[in-house]
Amino acid sequence: MLRLIYTSVQTPGFDRQAFEQLCEQASRNNQRLGITGLLLSNGMEFMQCLEGPKDTVASVYRKILLDSRHSDIRLLVSEDTDSLLFTAWSMMGLGTKPQSVLSGESIAYTLLDHRLYRPWKSLGLGAGDLIYEYAKVKAELEKAGEMGLLSKVFDVF
Ligand SMILES: Cc1cc2nc3c(=O)[nH]c(=O)nc-3n(C[C@H](O)[C@H](O)[C@H](O)COP(=O)(O)O)c2cc1C
Repeated sequence: MLRLIYTSVQTPGFDRQAFEQLCEQASRNNQRLGITGLLLSNGMEFMQCLEGPKDTVASVYRKILLDSRHSDIRLLVSEDTDSLLFTAWSMMGLGTKPQSVLSGESIAYTLLDHRLYRPWKSLGLGAGDLIYEYAKVKAELEKAGEMGLLSKVFDVF
């Protein structure tokens, strides 16, 4: 299987509603195609992990490259894998909330991961590490039966 991780910059005017629609479209298609992954938005940029059968992932990625909803696409990771990071997530959409609306405990959490609130482009290739860490977060939350915690830090789509 193939895993791709990239960052890109959202087209001006791309808003929360557009993100919700995009997440619906992506997870509907991916469910049919057998692709899984994570799509993060910080309000200005995307970071996405796509994983699944090689040819399918490659062909969806080719469509994504042409999509006018974003530009400046930077591929950070392209790797063969036999283990999926985001099993059962046909495309989980997570949008960071403005720090001003976070509660005390979720502020503590986001301070632990200050990279969430940095422009991802500025993190260079290291931005991809966030994806691997979110795979661990997913596994831990699943084990603890606490998936609801995700919505304290993110808008979940
Ligand atoms: C940031 C971003 C992520 C996307 N992720 C996916 C995806 O995971 N799967 C997918 O099918 N389309 C994704 N798309 C949409 C594709 O670019 C394209 O619009 C879509 O695959 C077209 O297929 P449809 O018209 O059959 O829905 C994404 C687009 C953007 C801008």
